[in-house]
Amino acid sequence: MPLLVDDAPALPLDAQGILELAARSMFQLFSSVSQGMFLVDLSGRIVWVNEGYQRFLPDLGFSSLDQFLGRMVEEVIPNTGMRRVLETGNPVLIDLLTNKAGTFVVSRIPLRDDAGSVIGAIGIVLFDHPETTLQPLISKFALLQRDLDDARRELASQRRRSLAVAGDGERRSKYTFASFIGSSPAAAEVKRQARRAAQSTSPVLLLGETGTGKELLAHAIHAASSRASGPFVSVNIAAVPDTLLEAEFFGVAPGAYTGADRKGRDGKFKLADGGTLFLDEIGDMPQSLQAKLLRALQEGEIEPLGSNKLVPFNVRILAATSRDLATLVREGKFREDLFYRLHVLPVRVPPLRVRRGDIPALVEALGEDLALRNGTPPPELLPDAMALLAGQPWRGNIRELRNVLEQAVMRGEGQSIDAAQLERILREAGVEPAAPAPVQDPGHAADAEDESRYLRPLAEQVAELERKAIAATLKAHGGNKLATARQLGISRATLYGRLENPE
Ligand SMILES: Nc1ncnc2c1ncn2[C@@H]1O[C@H](COP(=O)(O)OP(=O)(O)OP(=O)(O)O)[C@@H](O)[C@H]1O
Ligand SMILES: [Mg+2]
Repeated sequence: MPLLVDDAPALPLDAQGILELAARSMFQLFSSVSQGMFLVDLSGRIVWVNEGYQRFLPDLGFSSLDQFLGRMVEEVIPNTGMRRVLETGNPVLIDLLTNKAGTFVVSRIPLRDDAGSVIGAIGIVLFDHPETTLQPLISKFALLQRDLDDARRELASQRRRSLAVAGDGERRSKYTFASFIGSSPAAAEVKRQARRAAQSTSPVLLLGETGTGKELLAHAIHAASSRASGPFVSVNIAAVPDTLLEAEFFGVAPGAYTGADRKGRDGKFKLADGGTLFLDEIGDMPQSLQAKLLRALQEGEIEPLGSNKLVPFNVRILAATSRDLATLVREGKFREDLFYRLHVLPVRVPPLRVRRGDIPALVEALGEDLALRNGTPPPELLPDAMALLAGQPWRGNIRELRNVLEQAVMRGEGQSIDAAQLERILREAGVEPAAPAPVQDPGHAADAEDESRYLRPLAEQVAELERKAIAATLKAHGGNKLATARQLGISRATLYGRLENPE
């Protein structure tokens, strides 16, 4: 059987010989270009490890090759998928493996004998540190993972609700004030403000950095309001294309369009009737829609697309943004009149770094939640790990803390997590770990005499002092901003700016 085309240089070998040569070349190629390779036999026992692979051994907890060889693969490589390849005989050409040694792009290929039976499998680490080599792919993956997690959470809470209450479980709030963990002065204060806002019927504007719990509080405010039995409907303005937002908000009248929307469609204002409409990421609203939203809020009426009729609505508005709205107003990107209409009850959600005392309670609550979701025991942080968490700046706030814990749970074999593991996770997420700090108790007011509070960037301390001065002066003047600005010797615009952007 001729294997080669006529004019190719002839190889002095038979077909079998060529196949063997090809297999050997491929094996050598993979062995040299990959980060590491190993073989398991049919029982899953590690029988061979190449030189490249050996440098992973310390991270997997082995100081010598002898300890590693001869062990069952799942015993020594947490979360490995080799067993499935042995069982099914199907290769896995590309997979992401995360365990205590890090995250890797891997391949798993079954080995077969001449008769075609599986006799073992080969594991290849194609890339280690994919977070740097495959950055775009990994960030996409992280984003999808986050969406998936949100969707799962929503599903789970819908399921819980449908068990608890019969009927429309869809448009209800997912959280109550009890879900907002924290007893530090800053957490207690924001809860107090949000509870007060829940009693009112005015719009509420939730301000604060990303991941601080604005969405959680919006749910809680609805759940504690007189509209709790009505629907809770949210629109993430940043997630809806500008051209579709108007229809999304106000709906489409029957016959306005041909095709799918011929019958008309209810907008979010209509869906939220009798309840609460949560406008998330309000700072991302295009200008044309800002004008329409303002008119709707002023008149208490909306005009569905393609209809000439104004329809009254009965909806309480909550809005949130992590952007600096006052600056957007100054730059002419956000309408001032709309800003003041929404800014009736501003609630500033504090960043995690001003309520570090809540970290242990958050770790416990988030850890339990993660454990329930993954069917694992809750993680237990060793003291050095807790101190490390207490010292981080947490730019991504509670969402970031949650992600770090989730990584730790996914990688951990045992339940105990130490500081070194967390440092590795932070680094892989692109954050250089800050020094550990003493774990505060939640009652620890930031102004108690404790010198460790000065071990932070100066800008952060100055900003905090400024925030406190403003809050105290505002309080002394019963919330009067003009008097406050005068006393502090700043302009009213500066005061608004600081109130908007406390950092
Ligand atoms: N005080 C808290 N207690 C427990 N979990 C919290 C708390 N605050 C936030 N979380 C959790 O942290 C994550 C982020 O919270 P949320 O989505 O409410 O943040 P956000 O302020 O809306 O952020 P973004 O501006 O990025 O949208 C969620 O998983 C939420 O459940
Ligand atoms: Mg949000």
